[in-house]
Amino acid sequence: MEGLTGLQRAAKTCQIQIMSDKKKPHIPGLNPDHIVDHLPSYVSIQDRSLRILFVNASFKRDFGDATGRLCHTVYKGSPDICPNCPVRKTFRDKKVHIAEETVKLSSGKICQIFIQTSPILDSTGAVTAVIEMATNISRVKIDRKELITLGQSIALLSHGIKNILEGLQGGAYVVDQGFKDGDLELAQKGWGIVNKNIFDITDVVQNILYSSKNRPLKYESVLPGELLEDSVQLFREKAAAMKIKLEQQINPTVPKVRLDAAAIRRMLHNLLWNALEACHNDRKKNEHTVIAKSDHFDENHFMFEISDNGIGMDKATQRNVLEEFFSTKGSAGTGLGLAVVDKVVNKHGGRIEVVSEPGKGSSFKTIFNLTKPDK
Ligand SMILES: Nc1ncnc2c1ncn2[C@@H]1O[C@H](COP(=O)(O)OP(=O)(O)OP(=O)(O)O)[C@@H](O)[C@H]1O
Ligand SMILES: [Mg+2]
Repeated sequence: MEGLTGLQRAAKTCQIQIMSDKKKPHIPGLNPDHIVDHLPSYVSIQDRSLRILFVNASFKRDFGDATGRLCHTVYKGSPDICPNCPVRKTFRDKKVHIAEETVKLSSGKICQIFIQTSPILDSTGAVTAVIEMATNISRVKIDRKELITLGQSIALLSHGIKNILEGLQGGAYVVDQGFKDGDLELAQKGWGIVNKNIFDITDVVQNILYSSKNRPLKYESVLPGELLEDSVQLFREKAAAMKIKLEQQINPTVPKVRLDAAAIRRMLHNLLWNALEACHNDRKKNEHTVIAKSDHFDENHFMFEISDNGIGMDKATQRNVLEEFFSTKGSAGTGLGLAVVDKVVNKHGGRIEVVSEPGKGSSFKTIFNLTKPDK
C-alpha cells in the first residue's frame, strides 16, 4: 500500500509540476490537479504484476474502483493475463503499444476498447509503472460493421438492378422498332417487356426500403381476407401468362384484425411471387397451381398460407431462406424477399412455418395473433 500511495503521489506531483511550469488555467469546473478525471477515456496506472495502482473517474464510473486489483480480473473477470497484453510489452521494451480488447463493464455490458500504453520511467530510465489509456470504440465498431454490410449489399443489389435496367432498355428498343416500322404488334410486345421490368424494379426497391428502414408499423383494422384478395388480384394476369392456376381460399369468419396493411401486402407479394417463380422454374410437371389462403390457425391465431406445387426446396435451402441476400435464382433474385417477409412477421409478433419437398412444392404459413377489432 505504501508503494501504491507513493506512486499516486508521484503521478500527482508530476501533474502539479507540469501545471506550475506554465500558468494554471482558470476554467470554471476544471480542477487542474485532476485533469485526468475529465478525460472520457479510461486511464489506469499498473505495476509489473498488472496490479492497478491508479484509475481515473471514467474508469471508476464504468468498472468500479479497481485500485489494488489485477487488470485482467477487472476488464475480463479472468484469472489469466490477456495473450497480447500491451502493458507487459511496454514493461519489456519501454515503447508505446496498442491493442483492441473486448471487456465487460461493471453493468454487465460488453464493449470494445482501444488501448494505448506508455511507460513511466524513473531517473535511471527503468520502467516503474505503465500508464494505460483505453477508449470505448463499440460505436465505431458497429458503424464499421454496418458500412461493410452496406457495401456488400450495394454490390449485390446493383447486379440485380443492372439486369432489370438492361431489360428495360431492351423493351424500350423493341417499342422503338415497332413504332419505326409501323408494327404495332412489335411495339406491344416491347411494351410488355418494359412493363415486366417496371414491375420487377418496383419490387426490388420496395424490398430494399422495407429491409433497410426500421419503420414503425402503422396499425389499422383490416379483414385478412381482403388483404389476400388484393394481393392475389395483382398477380392474376401474370399467373395466367405463366399458365399457372392461381386459387384463393378465404375463410370469411376470420374477423377484422389490427395489422400494418401495407407491410402485410408486401409480405404476401413476396410469398406469391416466389410461389409463381417456383412453379415457372419447374420443368417436371405439366400443371401448376398456387393456392393463397387466409384462415383460422387455432382459437387465438389466424394465418395466411401460400402453397405451390413448384420445384420445392432441399433442407439446406430451407435452413437459409430467411437470410438476407440468400437466393438460388442467380441474378434473377436479390434474396431480399423472404428476409422482408421475416421482418414483417416478426414486427407483428407472428411466426413463419415452412414445409417443402424438392420436386413436390412448398407451403409458407405466416401465423398471427387474432386481435380485437377496433370500433
Ligand atoms: N415457394 C418457393 N419454392 C421454392 N423455393 C423457394 C420458394 N420461396 C423461396 N424459395 C427459395 O428461397 C430463396 C430466397 O427467397 P427470397 O424471396 O428471399 O429471394 P429470391 O426470390 O431469390 O429473390 P428476391 O429478392 O427477388 O425475392 C429463393 O432463391 C429460393 O431458393
Ligand atoms: Mg423472392
